[in-house]
Amino acid sequence: MSKEWTTKKLIGAGEIARRVRELGAEINTHYGGEEVTVVMLLNGALYFTADLTRELTGKVKVEGLKVSSYHGGTNSTGKVDIDERSDLDLAGRHVLVVDDILDTGQTLATVTRALGQHSPRSLQTCVLLDKAVPRAEEFEADFVGFTIANQFVVGYGLDYQGYERNLPSIEVLEFVSPT
Ligand code: IMP
Ligand code: MG
Repeated sequence: MSKEWTTKKLIGAGEIARRVRELGAEINTHYGGEEVTVVMLLNGALYFTADLTRELTGKVKVEGLKVSSYHGGTNSTGKVDIDERSDLDLAGRHVLVVDDILDTGQTLATVTRALGQHSPRSLQTCVLLDKAVPRAEEFEADFVGFTIANQFVVGYGLDYQGYERNLPSIEVLEFVSPT
């Protein structure tokens, strides 16, 4: 079946790669060689985390946490489900939560509250994109790749109904109106 949408490039693959290298360097400096447990929020942060963690030079563990906040369309439902595994070992560790995009703030606010219960040594957050929108929950990420305007984007892990995660660049989604 054909797609009911088109996409328009916003941030190209080369620009993403450059920024991810810079973020990696910032994160390496921040942790100064100490061990870090990276917790990626699935599925959106998959591609970003794969590239970012390959820039990290210290001892690194990578864990995944299944989180869903968008259920279908292009608007946040405000409800955040975390599939919190009981074997997550975060106590006393430097934890870096990685997500694709910070929008209403509800996902990262909910996740950091939940992970804070595990008594990590430190808890920081890193997002590839920060949407310049009023937050539903006050939240700022510690490491940010790019700040973008309030538009729905796909690619490099970000999806529309599960599609377009595999686009190498970040693109704006546009619906094709039936004629
Ligand atoms: P928040 O809870 O509203 O901050 O939303 C964060 C989550 O919503 C992200 O992890 C994404 O999964 C999803 N999201 C927010 N904006 C977009 C977008 O423009 N494209 C695709 N997913 C988005
Ligand atoms: Mg997500």
